[in-house]
Amino acid sequence: MNLLSKLTFAAGLTSLVVPSVTLHAQVQRAGKLAETYAQLCANCHGAKMEGAQAPSMLDEVWAHGGDDESLARSIRQGYPEKGMPAWSAALTEKDIRSMVILIREQRAKARQAQEEITKPVDAITVKSQLHGYQLNTWVDGLNDPWSLAFLPDGRALVTEKRGQLLVIDHGKLATTPVSGIPAVDSESQAGLYDVVPHPDYAHNGWLYLAYSHPQKNAAGKAVSLTRIIRGKLTDGAWTDQQTIFEAPVAVYPPAGGPHFGGRIAFDRAGYLYFSIGERGTMENAQNLAVPMGKIHRLFDDGRIPDDNPFAKDAQADRTIWSYGHRNPQGLAVHPVTGVLYDAEHGPRGGDEINLIRPGRNYGWPIITYGMDYDGTPITDITAKEGMEQPIKYWVPSIAPCGANFYTGDLFPQWKNHLFVASLAAQELHRLEIKDDKVLADEVLFKNLGRIRHVITGPDGALYVLLPQRIVRLTPAE
Ligand code: HEC
Repeated sequence: MNLLSKLTFAAGLTSLVVPSVTLHAQVQRAGKLAETYAQLCANCHGAKMEGAQAPSMLDEVWAHGGDDESLARSIRQGYPEKGMPAWSAALTEKDIRSMVILIREQRAKARQAQEEITKPVDAITVKSQLHGYQLNTWVDGLNDPWSLAFLPDGRALVTEKRGQLLVIDHGKLATTPVSGIPAVDSESQAGLYDVVPHPDYAHNGWLYLAYSHPQKNAAGKAVSLTRIIRGKLTDGAWTDQQTIFEAPVAVYPPAGGPHFGGRIAFDRAGYLYFSIGERGTMENAQNLAVPMGKIHRLFDDGRIPDDNPFAKDAQADRTIWSYGHRNPQGLAVHPVTGVLYDAEHGPRGGDEINLIRPGRNYGWPIITYGMDYDGTPITDITAKEGMEQPIKYWVPSIAPCGANFYTGDLFPQWKNHLFVASLAAQELHRLEIKDDKVLADEVLFKNLGRIRHVITGPDGALYVLLPQRIVRLTPAE
């Protein structure tokens, strides 16, 4: 019996309109999830999952359970006596996992079409769950700002992705960038990333930068990888530069391309953490011999602590603190517990917030809640022994970038909540976190453009980096 008649038989249907070639061949050739849905499911469930002869998958009514595992089971086994074919012969477990993600995406789309999410304009009071706030432009005329740092003398520093460091003096943007910043690869996702003052900056003046370091490899090809340097700001110039971390050029991937990570954080003991993405080669994340797909830990001067988890492993990169990461672009230390968290871009679906513990494996690409951008599955498993679970994941993706805990006094009820910037969804999220639990996730606003970072200012306002400007959130009167 061929597949089609098997299905038709199972479903007890004679009038089902489906393509006449074998479904299995089509599924394999298409590879594209939306096409698979259109071919196999749309006839019954509707082109947008709104329901037709079979139930809608957008409402809150599930006859057989609406969690991921129940959806996968419904698709795998079907309910032939009710007219829902079993798809386990036509779809692999990975395909079924992708189909579950597609259902999640479609539900989110339908929900968003109904929701009115605030798009604040300057000086208008916006309500949110815990605080009313106003949003005002603080600095305008920027070009893809990536990070912001406040100095004790009232100045601030902002990085632009294409490779410039700029001074903001009491809210006024300097007309000329800081001179002497090293050359930066800024093709594709490469660029100048984080700027972070030393915890004791007031005494030692050290500033740390993360950026894509352009090099030529032995074959003369342009390559680049995330490098960490520190230096001082002297009369508008970058001086006293020291290298804190750089990998051997032999492991540098081709210049440009994806997933550099590039975030820096200090913990309360003064250790320096930084992230490097897997640079588009998934396997890097599980390979302890390369620095890609990892979070690293160093002393502030670049020395490697003896108690790093792989410090005594001759095969491993001794700077590694945790591994199995795809592209962590947010790193934040909890102001009370001192625990390190990351915000990490998953593939399509599967962005994560993780509680970072030394030596742990965060699973990419062996486990993930996401799939490839064209809907091709990566894996059908989301959990595995010996691999850490995220404390929060987003399906569909929001593309989280910078993240920081709110530490000011202007918004008392936001104190110690994690704010997460997002690129694709253009949303600012507020997460209430207790250890390894996310108790609340609120979208404060969206649709003002891609958000790269968010940070508490010394005045207690919340500063948010948009594509051309920095806005400041203060309490509504
Ligand atoms: C021939 C028509 C038909 C096709 C094709 C079909 N379904 Fe269904 N499906 C149904 C019917 C009818 C039900 C309701 C079964 C019931 O009431 O128990 C259902 C139920 C489901 C459920 C469970 C819903 C619930 O309320 O718990 C899921 C999930 C689902 N289908 C997914 C899919 C996916 C994914 C595809 C494509 C791979 C697909 N279906 C293709 C007819 C179909």
